[in-house]
Amino acid sequence: MTVDEMKIHGRHYRTIWVAADGWSVEVIDQTKLPFAFETKLLASADEAAEAIKAMIVRGAPLIGATGAYGLCMALRVDASDEALERAYDMLVKTRPTAINLKWALDEMMASVRNQPKDRRVAAAYARAAQLCDDDVATNEAIGRQGLTLIEAIAGKKKSTVNVLTHCNAGWLACVDWGTALAPIYMAHDKGIPIHVWVDETRPRNQGGSLTAYELGAHGVKHSIIADNAGGHYMQHGDVDMCIVGTDRTTASGDVANKIGTYLKALAAHDNGVPFYVALPSSTIDWTIADGMKQIEIEERSGREITHVQGRTAAGEVLTVELTAPGSPARNPAFDVTPARLVTGLITERGIVAATRDGLLKVFPERAR
Ligand code: MRU
Repeated sequence: MTVDEMKIHGRHYRTIWVAADGWSVEVIDQTKLPFAFETKLLASADEAAEAIKAMIVRGAPLIGATGAYGLCMALRVDASDEALERAYDMLVKTRPTAINLKWALDEMMASVRNQPKDRRVAAAYARAAQLCDDDVATNEAIGRQGLTLIEAIAGKKKSTVNVLTHCNAGWLACVDWGTALAPIYMAHDKGIPIHVWVDETRPRNQGGSLTAYELGAHGVKHSIIADNAGGHYMQHGDVDMCIVGTDRTTASGDVANKIGTYLKALAAHDNGVPFYVALPSSTIDWTIADGMKQIEIEERSGREITHVQGRTAAGEVLTVELTAPGSPARNPAFDVTPARLVTGLITERGIVAATRDGLLKVFPERAR
């Protein structure tokens, strides 16, 4: 299905919703953006898994939500324990770095496992809907927290606040609002003059295609820059702060995010630019403390480096080869920024230091 209008042109969309039949789910096909806004129907756990792998849906919170509905659809076909375990195993393996996927699937298992078989499907759909609603509320809270940082800079600076972001951690990456972009939307809506430096985010260009698309549609001033340009703008005083999202944050505050985030954090550190990471608590992996050693980094196809998708002047969307034919390519999808380079973590419960103590201040229930 192709839809002409989107959130900003009069109709509000979440990134995932239960379809009119009451059980399959519809998502925005992010592989088609920014050139076409199309939705796609996912009608089985296999299709949900494929949508995650092919990055029709992407972004840590959204793959969690898609995994949750994948489990619902698996149970609809077979509500046995074996089928539940099988679907869990299949879905959890689709993308290894973002912990939100495992978190959402674990939440689903906890809600369903102890139910009698004839109640499992209803319980699963209810829990998946709740996870989605919670994601929206959490991101709104992150937005309100992060807004205070932008307001503080605006209050001192009395001119446009320049924020640099990497990848896409906006509403397209979540169910709604976004994490890193939620404070930016709130600042813009409050009338604070704001401009966003959007890292293009090679190889898949989530910044240039998705973040720029979101911001443009919402009327937020922005400029797409090459991934290598951020350090230059920081040296010239053109970046007031960085805000990025994360796919997994350790209990000690190390942050895994889209490849290239680490280099931005280094440049920010060297230039005294505050570097914030916005995250829902579902992104914290409390079981690990060393991000460099303990977070599995997804290795994607080298074809994402050697080929690129774009639109011709005639309007045709094509994939073309970009690099020396035959040269091999490596494609780690994420990197880890050590906690020492992170100025603060913007959570739904407050802004804290990127340390275990900082996190425990707002999540005391996690203290052992
Ligand atoms: O490979 P992607 O597009 O799924 O990577 C997404 C990111 O790295 C985001 O920054 C992260 O998931 C946070 S989304 C709120």
